[in-house]
Amino acid sequence: MKLTILGGGGFRVPQVFEAISADDVAVRIDELVLYDTDASRLGAIRAVLAQLEQGFPHAPRVTATTDLDAALTGADFIFCAIRVGGAQGRTFDERIALGLGVLGQETTGPGGLAYAIRTLPVMLEIAERVRVLAPEAWFINFTNPAGIVTEGLRQVLRDRVVGICDTPIGLMRRAALAVTGSATVHTFDYVGLNHLGWLRSLEIDGRDRLPDLLADTSLLHGIEEARLMGLDWVRALEALPNEYLYYYYYNREAVQRIRASEATRGEFLLRQQASFYQRAAGEPAHALELWEKTKYEREATYMAEGRPKGQEHAREESDLEDGGYQQVALNLMAALAAGNPSTMILNVRNGETVNGLPPESVVEVPCTVDAAGIHPHRIAPVDGHMLGLMQSVKAVEQLTIEAVVNHSATLAWKAIALHPLVDSVEVGRDLLERYRQGIPGVGAALD
Ligand code: G6P
Ligand code: MN
Repeated sequence: MKLTILGGGGFRVPQVFEAISADDVAVRIDELVLYDTDASRLGAIRAVLAQLEQGFPHAPRVTATTDLDAALTGADFIFCAIRVGGAQGRTFDERIALGLGVLGQETTGPGGLAYAIRTLPVMLEIAERVRVLAPEAWFINFTNPAGIVTEGLRQVLRDRVVGICDTPIGLMRRAALAVTGSATVHTFDYVGLNHLGWLRSLEIDGRDRLPDLLADTSLLHGIEEARLMGLDWVRALEALPNEYLYYYYYNREAVQRIRASEATRGEFLLRQQASFYQRAAGEPAHALELWEKTKYEREATYMAEGRPKGQEHAREESDLEDGGYQQVALNLMAALAAGNPSTMILNVRNGETVNGLPPESVVEVPCTVDAAGIHPHRIAPVDGHMLGLMQSVKAVEQLTIEAVVNHSATLAWKAIALHPLVDSVEVGRDLLERYRQGIPGVGAALD
């Protein structure tokens, strides 16, 4: 099997490599192709893999290329995790919004829309090449904002594209561990859009144990999302929210904290990652060690800049462990290729899963995956505040896609101004203007 990673010079690639090289995998990848537009990043990641390889007798043959067509040809699976505009672009997404007093964040709020606007044209071009060169391949999208990007890609790739995020899996794992002592997933109900969802039930032996978890202060305290948003708040919700809902439920506090912190997440990572890539290329013999240190620091400081005082570094060691993206991606490939049915939370076509959202829209829901494809589970009806928030954010996402497809600045303004975290149409207008002027990819997408 040939796996191609677009964004092959990305920092998380060695984690995928470890997962696919393990002794006991259900699907064996024998050829791994890393594609990137930046040859120096490819070089640094190859140096890490060259050292990692030694511990993995079943590691695939690895090649690296900056030729997209060569990378795609003959691929069985394509992982796509690219960052259009780089880490620098992320800092502009954040700072421009913060400068206007609204949330500046990678995927949530107007920053995520600016990110989507410059990313979609690039992704659609890639998808056209995939359609020609690897029409049978499964396209597994990690590129953020993953919900919007996956929905846009469906126009070209139809049911061959699926989106993945590690946050719902992380939440499930924490909840299952708290209740049963094991991370194994049981019957559960999770519903949402990417980075906006809720775990609504967790069934064990036919009984929903989520109410017990919500009632138990010491167990609940072990759940990162509950600590972050308040035990009393998650009890009031009667559900466990995805961590990104923090930016909605505590928008004012998050904006204040991020503005008051010395650096945004993007600024921190811009420095941290630049230093890693430079040093790994310069000292290949230490590439693995540098990568491991950098990874630990990255995970330990995740979301730190927006968290309440005293919680900046309040992550549990178990939450810093691997097992997120790469594990789901591996399970997904195994289920599709080897037919091992598997349950996972994925970004897929809604169909009739969530009442009140368009069938063609992409939602993040539990699915069973097998050799025949991806089958969303039937979930309980969604209503009230959950459905309302999903509907308004989905409308904004769809306007954003339409804006890009039609090169329409008016639709982009409409999308930004209608985002629930943008509190004025005038602020929406200013945001779009500054994004168009400050970020070349955003300007180009709408001209
Ligand atoms: C989680 C989310 C990703 C997001 C990442 C940001 O893993 O699921 O979608 O890109 O966090 O982490 P970072 O270390 O880049 O701030
Ligand atoms: Mn994600």
